[in-house]
Amino acid sequence: MRLLFVALQWLIAPVLFFSGYKSFRDNAALGSVRLNQWGLHVLRVRLAARMADWRRFFLARQVEQSVRQAYQENGFVIQKDFLAEPTLEGIRREVFESDWQLREMRQGNALTSKVFLDRANLAKSHPHLHDFLCNEDLLAQIRFIAGIGGEPLFAIQALSCDDGSQTDPQMVLHQDTFHSTAKAWLFLEEVSEENCPFTYVPGSHIRTPERLQWEYAQSLTARSHALIYHARGSFRASLSDIRLMGLPEPVRFAVPANTLVIADTFGFHSRSPAMSKSAFRIEIYASLRRNPFLPWTGLDFFSLPFIRQYRGRWTLRLLTLFSRFGWMRQPWRLVGRRKVRITDAL
Ligand SMILES: [Fe+2]
Repeated sequence: MRLLFVALQWLIAPVLFFSGYKSFRDNAALGSVRLNQWGLHVLRVRLAARMADWRRFFLARQVEQSVRQAYQENGFVIQKDFLAEPTLEGIRREVFESDWQLREMRQGNALTSKVFLDRANLAKSHPHLHDFLCNEDLLAQIRFIAGIGGEPLFAIQALSCDDGSQTDPQMVLHQDTFHSTAKAWLFLEEVSEENCPFTYVPGSHIRTPERLQWEYAQSLTARSHALIYHARGSFRASLSDIRLMGLPEPVRFAVPANTLVIADTFGFHSRSPAMSKSAFRIEIYASLRRNPFLPWTGLDFFSLPFIRQYRGRWTLRLLTLFSRFGWMRQPWRLVGRRKVRITDAL
């Protein structure tokens, strides 16, 4: 039975090779030490980067030169005072004063609360949020940094950490996967040094020879790595790894409210460890990740007219369906309907 299972893994490997599948642990072929010695993983990294460059060539027309330049140099863009003050106030009011269908995920000493957003549900009741989700400038920037077109997933996200054992796996510098993906945060309140600010290593999105060498080294041991996230393709990097790759020290985004950050999370990033017992961060979060080998920017399932209005709902539906088949895990536990912050609302 075990043999049959492994044979099946090898059989589907050519299809997985040209997908976003990233686990070394769960596929015998993609995790194979021999194949990775021959350069399988590095080939995927290089090929995916080429395809992203190709698609970005078309997506670049939609964004300002300053965005293109910031991305090329650093792997992220940061824009303070992104929204007009009355718009930000409108979003804050809608976020804090409404009851939401809340979901939670605990990772070590961090609790992430999330509300998956659908444009259709917001149009009448939450006009400021709705307009933010339809902001063409924002969407173009996310697509450019992700290196792919399509409909990003939006959510209200609140992060509560304590200064306990710091066992949140997101607090270690890591890449999300082997190819470009975009994550965006519009911070609704000031993020101080105590409130687990986002951290990024500038320039770590670039596939330098040193980075590719590091990727190669990881690919030989990833399959049996003790840390499950690493074994599943989200490689963790130590500060000495970062220095050996010739990269600078990480930058911490302790920023005022109304700051927008969009980052390519192939670059090394993390949450900074909490420095207070009640660290709290709240943001509108977006992510965009699709098959990295697509030669086109469009043809996105989530951009279909009747689906794009319900992007959050469809994501949850698919997650639930796939978790039923054992293909994915549904990490978001339904908490029920309540405010994102019970105390101290506004
Ligand atoms: Fe990450």
